[in-house]
Amino acid sequence: MQPASDSRTLPLLFQPYRLRGVTLKNRIVVSPMGTYSSEDGRLTPFQFAHYQRMAMGGAGLVILEQTFVTRAGRVSNGDPGLWADSQIEPMARLVSEMKRYGAKTAIQISHGGRKGGQQRAHEGNGPIGERDLAAGDEQLFPMGASAVPLSEGWQMPVEMSEAQIEGVIEAFAAGARRALLAGFDMLEVHMAHGYLLQSFLSPLANRRTDRWGGSLENRMRLPLAVVARLRATMPSSMPLLARLSVTDWIEGGWTEDDSVVLARKLREAGIDLIDCSSGGNMRAGATNSNLARGPGYQVELADRLRREAGIPTAAVGMIRTPQYAERILQAGQADLVCIGRQILFNPFWAHHAAWQMGVERDFSSWPEPYGWWLDKWAKALAANGEDPLGPERRG
Ligand SMILES: Cc1cc2nc3c(=O)[nH]c(=O)nc-3n(C[C@H](O)[C@H](O)[C@H](O)COP(=O)(O)O)c2cc1C
Repeated sequence: MQPASDSRTLPLLFQPYRLRGVTLKNRIVVSPMGTYSSEDGRLTPFQFAHYQRMAMGGAGLVILEQTFVTRAGRVSNGDPGLWADSQIEPMARLVSEMKRYGAKTAIQISHGGRKGGQQRAHEGNGPIGERDLAAGDEQLFPMGASAVPLSEGWQMPVEMSEAQIEGVIEAFAAGARRALLAGFDMLEVHMAHGYLLQSFLSPLANRRTDRWGGSLENRMRLPLAVVARLRATMPSSMPLLARLSVTDWIEGGWTEDDSVVLARKLREAGIDLIDCSSGGNMRAGATNSNLARGPGYQVELADRLRREAGIPTAAVGMIRTPQYAERILQAGQADLVCIGRQILFNPFWAHHAAWQMGVERDFSSWPEPYGWWLDKWAKALAANGEDPLGPERRG
């Protein structure tokens, strides 16, 4: 693992970080966040605007939202996909735009599993209903490790056959090949939040008695098979991250101890960093309420996997300020910090953090059309004893 390098000169948050052949300019990561704004899996102008703003905002790595490797395996009608060649071109255009701002771009690849068949989050986040169908949405039919619905009132998933499982492994490889053609710098495989791969891990959703269920070894088989196929598909210089729900937070579910075992195996299989999330495997009291647990509620999970599995980690979850993010890195609890909603709230979070921490004192790393003006503006403010992020003296 990379040592915390010279912290006297620069906060760790703004020191570069290397993963295989890719160097991030800083350790700030835009967490993958679904916008539910694609059309038939293709990126739309909103997503271009959204992700370009994230790249302009100064983060070292932007992870594109959960993107599905099969059409049948998507969660909502608004999800982006990598199941068709026609989806490559818009992604390639977006990735090349992102590069202008010095951000590296990853894409989170996934299969929705038993969580398929949901409304777009901003249209209700419940099961697809009559109104959605009347508005032109398609009914989606979830499949999963077992016929165990997400929660009461949710569609019963079809238990996947051996052939369907093998098909999903191939679909991940095909999706990865399309992502490579689009020019992404790295991939993140989604093994969290109750989607297909995590639902195989968790005994809450996996009741199978064949080689894909039962023992911990059997439950880990599909995620590990996917990672092996991905690694065989990707160049060795390209990083592969995994997002994990380190715990289900539910009695009888997937545990932190299980994650330590899995993390060691993932490291051996060629995963470079684990992005440590949690929860999402059951509806009631999980997915959304988990997002409000409290400041830094998952940091200890990243810390534990980093120490016990000897693998680099990213911490995520209600990390709002650069000072807190820096403390996490300084304490060696994680290697990278993912910021989600705080960056939705302020896409320029990373530049503001650099300004606050005295790392940026001009606007040379901002988009060029802004820099010239902002420089003059900040000088005018300084002449008045003010700072762009400080209080206004008059008014
Ligand atoms: C609108 C929204 C969409 C999200 N979509 C995804 C997703 O596509 N993939 C994923 O792994 N996590 C997703 N998450 C979880 C975030 O990546 C992040 O882990 C979570 O919001 C906690 O971090 P935060 O407190 O900084 O927002 C989403 C969260 C939000 C708020």
